[in-house]
Amino acid sequence: MKIAILPGDGIGTEIMAQALRVLNALELKFETEQALVGGAAYEAHGHPLPEATLKLAKDADAVLFGAVGDWKYDKLERALRPEQAILGLRKNLGLFANFRPAICYEQLTHASSLKPELVSGLDILLVRELTGDIYFGQPRGRRESPDGAFKGAEEAFDTMRYSRPEIERIAHVAFKAAQKRNKRVTSVDKANVLETFQFWRDVVTEVHAQYPDVELQHMYVDNAAMQLVKAPKSFDVIVTGNMFGDILSDEAAMLTGSIGMLPSASLNEAGRGLYEPSHGSAPDIAGKDLANPLATILSMAMMLRFSLNQPEAAGRVEAAVQQVLASGLRTADIWSAGTQRVGTRAMGDAVLAAITTKTITTKG
Ligand code: IPM
Ligand code: MG
Repeated sequence: MKIAILPGDGIGTEIMAQALRVLNALELKFETEQALVGGAAYEAHGHPLPEATLKLAKDADAVLFGAVGDWKYDKLERALRPEQAILGLRKNLGLFANFRPAICYEQLTHASSLKPELVSGLDILLVRELTGDIYFGQPRGRRESPDGAFKGAEEAFDTMRYSRPEIERIAHVAFKAAQKRNKRVTSVDKANVLETFQFWRDVVTEVHAQYPDVELQHMYVDNAAMQLVKAPKSFDVIVTGNMFGDILSDEAAMLTGSIGMLPSASLNEAGRGLYEPSHGSAPDIAGKDLANPLATILSMAMMLRFSLNQPEAAGRVEAAVQQVLASGLRTADIWSAGTQRVGTRAMGDAVLAAITTKTITTKG
């Protein structure tokens, strides 16, 4: 078994280093191979997703990904920007099903921007369709407007589209996930305005007929954005398209106190996957030993469970993270009065200690 390690840019390299220390401590029989991706790959090879990196990711049994992006690449032509690496990996590996859990750890209820009683015990699974929608739809581009009130003016356009099989497969994924949880799916769309999402609603409703044990609710995306901050615990599984999922998953993540805690998995039809923290590359804090490595460490645990068939090792990692939080250690993003602030590396040390000795002591 081989794991492709793609640390990427910004805090990506720091958080990945900690996740790798934890992975190595588990003493599993996996081979790992690292490659450059994003801005780092652009600097070295002139492309954010070099052939060799793509090949490594395709051949591996799982991919562990850090983060990509930096403002300094904003002026590059789109095809060369770091974000194209993650979009290219998703498309080329067929990673259509993105799982973004938003779980509020009991010890972090006070780090949430919402009142503790609204988020205490929160456990939402957002299932985002990841290879379709307006992010990939063709045609797109800039042109002279061919019609309408601004005919002749310069304009830009993208295409929102979803095919029946694309909607069906993500709906199946969501219903199956719900069967293992609280058996409720909220499908988020914009059927009141968009043709694409009326079709989405129709197809999700059809697929639902095969899951009579699961309750299905449809919700418009604007209302869903509101309900997420009003009564987030009313959700179990949310399934939605690529763009709405991108936006709502950041919102859901923040409810939990820190996006720095949340792992994610992106799977293809064969069950192979790419695992990455839900947060980005945070260039503003890169290299300062400030980043929270827990989302990457938890992504590694998800990888062990979903792609590498190592549920026991995954459980050990998750228990170690719980133990470290219970001991009061916090990186800056989740720090609150009465807890002990630590850096990226010290957080990695603590998880490592919890895994290897099963006890850790707190100072101060
Ligand atoms: C995410 C990110 C990406 C996306 C960017 C970096 C292309 O925001 O994974 O949510 O839009 O999907
Ligand atoms: Mg996003």
